[in-house]
Amino acid sequence: MRANDRPATARAVQIAPSILSADFARLGAEVEDVLAAGADLLHLDVMDGHFVPNITFGPPLVASVRAATRTTLDCHLMITEPTKYVGAFCDAGADWVSVHVEVHGRTDDVGAALDAIRAKGKRAGLVLNPDTPVARLDPFLDRTDFVLVMSVFPGFGGQSFIPDVLDKVRALVERGYPGPIEIDGGIGPKTAPAAVAAGARVLVAGNAVFRSPDRRAAIAALRGGA
Ligand code: DX5
Ligand code: ZN
Repeated sequence: MRANDRPATARAVQIAPSILSADFARLGAEVEDVLAAGADLLHLDVMDGHFVPNITFGPPLVASVRAATRTTLDCHLMITEPTKYVGAFCDAGADWVSVHVEVHGRTDDVGAALDAIRAKGKRAGLVLNPDTPVARLDPFLDRTDFVLVMSVFPGFGGQSFIPDVLDKVRALVERGYPGPIEIDGGIGPKTAPAAVAAGARVLVAGNAVFRSPDRRAAIAALRGGA
């Protein structure tokens, strides 16, 4: 186990607030606030305006967040050419880096991206869009440390959870996938229990945490009460 994974793996269900829903003008304070409220990891959504119809941020912002905390940084790359950029995100301080399987054979080779992430000593993840079958992961699963199942079509925070994707979480659990399964999109107190019951162990939440007046209570609710 790597040292900076310890806090994240100490709990059965890990909560990863997505800074996409934070106030970027006050990002340092926002990050400090959700960590004090009990977040286990920070989820950083990188969008390139090609893979998804939105643009967010790149390695400089990841480096700034890295300088502000030792917490595990989970970088979700919604970009068409991840292999070209994964090194820069790793060097900026990302701990987990995930790439979308949909780019494979179109604009990139995801096997190369996964290998490049691992060569940097970081955790490599593959991401599945809601309409991508789990079988698309098969050629690459043994080169991954985790899988991220999208429960909305990527691009924006605040969308509604798509329950059908839970079949894919269950399928990965049934076939004994050894790494953590992360779920992202529309996760809130109403949808988290079904995601956890299906086998998701890392819950990404943007609006449910950052737009809540009581972030500690919001994180506790996602974790299953208490
Ligand atoms: C969507 C992003 C998500 C998003 C989640 O493209 O990958 O991480 O920020 O936001 P909520 O939890 O508000 O659906
Ligand atoms: Zn995300």
